[in-house]
Amino acid sequence: MWFDTHAHVDNTQFDEDREDMLRRAQDAAVTRFVNIGCDPRSVRRTLELIERYDWIYGTVGLHPHDAKSWSDALYNEYRELASHPKILAIGEIGLDFHYDYSPRDEQRLAFRRQIRLAKELAMPVTIHDREAHRECLDILTEEEGWANGGIFHCYSGSAEMAAEIVKNGFYISFSGVLTFSNAAKVRKAAAAVPLDRLLIETDCPYLSPHPYRGKRNEPAYVAETGRAMAELRGLGYEEMAKITWENACRVYRIPL
Ligand code: NI
Repeated sequence: MWFDTHAHVDNTQFDEDREDMLRRAQDAAVTRFVNIGCDPRSVRRTLELIERYDWIYGTVGLHPHDAKSWSDALYNEYRELASHPKILAIGEIGLDFHYDYSPRDEQRLAFRRQIRLAKELAMPVTIHDREAHRECLDILTEEEGWANGGIFHCYSGSAEMAAEIVKNGFYISFSGVLTFSNAAKVRKAAAAVPLDRLLIETDCPYLSPHPYRGKRNEPAYVAETGRAMAELRGLGYEEMAKITWENACRVYRIPL
């Protein structure tokens, strides 16, 4: 059984065939996933999904792209919603200096406030870091954000930085990028992460793994990333499924 640690199935790209897509996930033995609530609308839809399906879990957070809409009212709203037993983490939160859809100061502020929220609630965090590696680590340290564990999602940093993240108690999640022929740096990092800190994800509908690259991604395809990870680490397919499943349950604090 596979665990997709980061999906966005509330995305409108699934509106036409969401039920079929969820069935394909189960058929591919992807029997749990976490849907990431990353703005007020997707948080609402995430709550609908986790109420409806017992095998789907969720998070609440404000993505760095939308950091400019951060407010104290949202803090209060998220604090309340995070008490739902199937909301497992605060995220995705962080910094995106590639797109800079929100001004960097507002990204930093929303990131810091949400780390504080996670601390207040003693919950793990899910981190989005795009071209802001050093600063993400520094803010986590300054805000004591490592305390309750968490995940660097869709990891794109170096093996050295991965070691620093692991040393601070976090987990590292790899997306379908792992299967791309031009992703030597990502594979190098994935080869170096301790087995008990490895996670896999789709980040669907984005970043489909080979052989689906370029098409819409969905949770069923996380098995392809798992296959690539098993080959990279010299382990069996089922062994990798078990390792990443157990890691996901541990970081998200749910029973196996
Ligand atoms: Ni995401």
